[in-house]
Amino acid sequence: KQVYGVIGDPISHSLSPVMQEAAFKYCHLDAAYHAFHVPKQYLEQAVQGMRGLGVKGLNVTLPHKVEIMNFLDEIDPLAEKIGAVNTIVQEDGKLVGYNTDGEGYMQSLQPISEKTIASSRVLIIGAGGAAKGVAITMASYGVKELVITNRTLSKAESLAQDCGKYTSSAAMPIGMAQAKLTEFDIIINTTSIGMTPDIDTMPLSLEMLGKNVIVSDLIYTPFQTRFLLEAEKKGAKILNGLDMFVNQGALSFKYWTGQEAPREIMKDVVMKELG
Ligand code: ATR
Repeated sequence: KQVYGVIGDPISHSLSPVMQEAAFKYCHLDAAYHAFHVPKQYLEQAVQGMRGLGVKGLNVTLPHKVEIMNFLDEIDPLAEKIGAVNTIVQEDGKLVGYNTDGEGYMQSLQPISEKTIASSRVLIIGAGGAAKGVAITMASYGVKELVITNRTLSKAESLAQDCGKYTSSAAMPIGMAQAKLTEFDIIINTTSIGMTPDIDTMPLSLEMLGKNVIVSDLIYTPFQTRFLLEAEKKGAKILNGLDMFVNQGALSFKYWTGQEAPREIMKDVVMKELG
């Protein structure tokens, strides 16, 4: 039996175990997937334990995605650019780190985009870990223009500078991004605003939203944030973070097993868990 898992702190709410186990079962693979609660001070031992126990693969979630890189043997170039790892593969005793978050997001966006990525102007709200994965991946794919806005402007500036190595990229204050909203084809909220629906806030006002825009939120609990509801009212196409979650897991599955993941099965089981 091959052993897989996810490490994080906290970890009990992770939907990765039910999703990956459904995929293994559907594909008749003799494999198990476990959620491991790993506090920060045990991260290195957890990685060494993975070697010692012959664990074939792990997902890595908050807060370990950056620090984990110190304990691996090789880092895939995209994960290196992003500066974070969410997937580890053990092959011949060697631990290789990948990042499937940004790619997973791109795969959720492509089916609903009328424009090609190369001709899209993208606004990213937020400049934390989640923003970084999406922004650097989109920049590497060569979006036409990438603008990053954030409550703390200096963090947006730093991320825009990193993205600037790959495509045209700039940072702007939230007020300015709001005023220029018609200039974007895709608007993505990567902040946690919207996760607590009782707090009635939006990452930015959609007053000036243009036509034929995609408005997206990486959140999927709640399934539709206020940001997405208002965008929909204004005629935008909306996309939550569920497909991104399924796709990042499907890409991890492919790295581990070498075969395509049953994405519909995985999505169904996650939807069922979410009620
Ligand atoms: P994650 O890994 O989920 O991206 P993170 O790295 O802590 O988490 O980043 C959180 C992001 O959400 C940041 O862009 C943060 O803005 P700051 O850089 O100004 O802190 C943003 N964020 C979180 N709560 C926010 C709030 N109440 N208002 C505005 N921005 C918020």
